[in-house]
Amino acid sequence: MRWTNLLSNLLSALLLSGSADAAGRSAAHAGKRHAEYAARKAKPAFEPIFEEGFSAIVDRGVKTPKFLNANTTQFAVDGKAIPDVSFDVGESYSGSLPISKKANEDGNLFFWFFPSENPAAKKEILIWLNGGPGCSSFEGLLQENGPFLWQYGTYKPVKNPWSWHTLTNVVYVEQPVGTGFSTGNVTITNEYELAAQFLGWWKNFVETFSLQGYKVYIAGESYAGFYCPYIANAFLEAKDKTYYDMSGMTIYNPSLSWNEVQTPIPVVQFTEYWAGLFPFNDTFRADIKAREKKCGYRDFMDEYLVYPPKGHIPMPLPGTDDKGNTRDECWNIYWDIFDAISLLNPCFDIYQVGTTCPLLWDVLGFPGSMPYLPDGAQVYFDRADVKKAIHAPDVAWEECSSDDVFVKGEDKSLPSTMSVLPNVIDKTKNVIVGHSSMDMILIANGTLLALQNMTWGGKLGFQTRPDQPFYVPYNNMTTLSTMAAGGVFGSLVSERGLTYVAVDLAGHMVPQYAPSAAYRHVEYMLGRVNCMNCTVPFTTDPKTPQSTQKLGKGTAPQGWSNRKKGHHGHGSRKIRRYEA
Ligand SMILES: *[C@@H]1O[C@H](CO)[C@@H](O)[C@H](O)[C@H]1NC(C)=O
Ligand SMILES: *[C@@H]1O[C@H](CO)[C@@H](O)[C@H](O)[C@H]1NC(C)=O
Ligand SMILES: *[C@@H]1O[C@H](CO)[C@@H](O)[C@H](O)[C@H]1NC(C)=O
Ligand SMILES: *[C@@H]1O[C@H](CO)[C@@H](O)[C@H](O)[C@H]1NC(C)=O
Ligand SMILES: *[C@@H]1O[C@H](CO)[C@@H](O)[C@H](O)[C@H]1NC(C)=O
Ligand SMILES: *[C@@H]1O[C@H](CO)[C@@H](O)[C@H](O)[C@H]1NC(C)=O
Ligand SMILES: *[C@@H]1O[C@H](CO)[C@@H](O)[C@H](O)[C@H]1NC(C)=O
Repeated sequence: MRWTNLLSNLLSALLLSGSADAAGRSAAHAGKRHAEYAARKAKPAFEPIFEEGFSAIVDRGVKTPKFLNANTTQFAVDGKAIPDVSFDVGESYSGSLPISKKANEDGNLFFWFFPSENPAAKKEILIWLNGGPGCSSFEGLLQENGPFLWQYGTYKPVKNPWSWHTLTNVVYVEQPVGTGFSTGNVTITNEYELAAQFLGWWKNFVETFSLQGYKVYIAGESYAGFYCPYIANAFLEAKDKTYYDMSGMTIYNPSLSWNEVQTPIPVVQFTEYWAGLFPFNDTFRADIKAREKKCGYRDFMDEYLVYPPKGHIPMPLPGTDDKGNTRDECWNIYWDIFDAISLLNPCFDIYQVGTTCPLLWDVLGFPGSMPYLPDGAQVYFDRADVKKAIHAPDVAWEECSSDDVFVKGEDKSLPSTMSVLPNVIDKTKNVIVGHSSMDMILIANGTLLALQNMTWGGKLGFQTRPDQPFYVPYNNMTTLSTMAAGGVFGSLVSERGLTYVAVDLAGHMVPQYAPSAAYRHVEYMLGRVNCMNCTVPFTTDPKTPQSTQKLGKGTAPQGWSNRKKGHHGHGSRKIRRYEA
């Protein structure tokens, strides 16, 4: 995630509204259609196969462990003995390693490392980080992109054909100290210190598993919009390719700017875009519209979300008082929308706004906007048998730590768009920012706005709007419990080493809601495919026939992408602005 702590962060930003510094961060033709239909019939694309029929790449059992030796046996996990998991997960290693080489170092980071059986995975490794701050990366492991998945409301863990370890070596790291099973004193106050601790741990990890000379990739979501760029930057600045050969980064629904920019400023427009999911009564609709106008939010979006950008976005932000603090009535638009939709849809999920009741059981205790664990249920990673199976310390495990992971709960760093992200793009020329359409905790148009105010590769922002098609290959990789989309599934723009890709029909946690889309992103980042606007099949499923039609301009939530001028709901005047 998850930005769980976000709800409370945002709330405290609101309560302290006065003090929220500066901008208040607290952080598819008739003849052709027939051919298309024939192609689809010929391929098993959307026919889910049953559990027994996994594609070869996933089912191949582990024959010879690759990393097992005297240095690593203490971390080896028995892949046949993971509680409640009814299949052999294969070779993996988990445990704690210190964040430095100091003899009395008390800080540790806990990890779970899954070597890949994919022959294309040579000397390379991908790091996955969830956000928070303070949320465990094991959420990603168990519910997004790991080898086995136990998702909301489901009966038991299932094998994940979309697991990223079927592409490359993947390590899930609980960080910073204080997160999940990572123990020690919390001493960090900013992202540079966080990155320094991570690098200290990484050196120990590389030496334990003999990963010297490996290319390193990093991916994460949400608050990892802080973590990943700062860590990637520290790797690059270490100028030591033996240990720190940072080669690419993917961040989903990342926190990239002041909270206002990605949350209250774009929110009213978001509810209008998804009007059927926010069926507000006339009075309330008129009220939020009027307040949006009064706070200057719509004018601000109209003025600055343009391609190319017209210039830097000046401070202060709209809706602030004379000290530069966001006025309550402006921030409150967001919370009033949250309250109003929660009355209409009590199970409203701020992370996936299409969700309705009932609230599902979540084996990690967090199935939506609020924590929920039915009577008698246990949080998976907090079970004694699970801890034992993975060599975890006997500490209470929470998906997102209730204790601070920064001193006094404050991360003093600037959002990465205003600091280190440009350097990571310029040095790797391999950065993807993915953002899903149905997330209200961090809103896609706010992310675009943050990127339009960032200079990389010598220029400010994207010069063209994201209107190339993002194509997710049709595939035969799914089972009934792991079905995933194929087809044009968003839109993208790629300039000077940075790709922005909008992902359809997905909530905050992109690999959870759109696993096939995320799989394509990783293939692209690893250089296994060289385009995401093309119909190249999945590398792990090369024979499934793909679309032969024109792909069009994509299907992102950005209203302009595939609509004609003057289409209802989007005035021709405004559309022209974006074509300018
Ligand atoms: C954490 O810091 C406190 C105060 O500096 C110290 O007394 C304590 O021993 C430290 N805890 C650990 C586990 O090192
Ligand atoms: C174990 O680690 C040490 C120290 O990094 C290294 O010198 C040694 O070669 C490693 N042993 C194996 C079997 O990889
Ligand atoms: C836009 O970027 C400039 C330069 O980094 C920065 O000074 C300004 O505060 C940014 N504006 C916003 C709204 O973040
Ligand atoms: C309209 O919605 C608002 C916000 O939830 C609520 O306060 C108000 O009572 C509603 N009015 C009616 C007529 O239901
Ligand atoms: C796909 O992307 C490449 C590189 O940006 C671009 O040259 C090409 O025109 C794009 N194709 C489509 C169908 O958008
Ligand atoms: C899926 O495609 C792969 C090759 O791409 C093939 O080996 C496999 O048998 C196919 N599986 C099914 C169930 O059709
Ligand atoms: C994002 O911004 C575009 C351009 O202003 C607008 O047409 C679209 O409706 C916005 N999308 C959402 C989800 O707010």
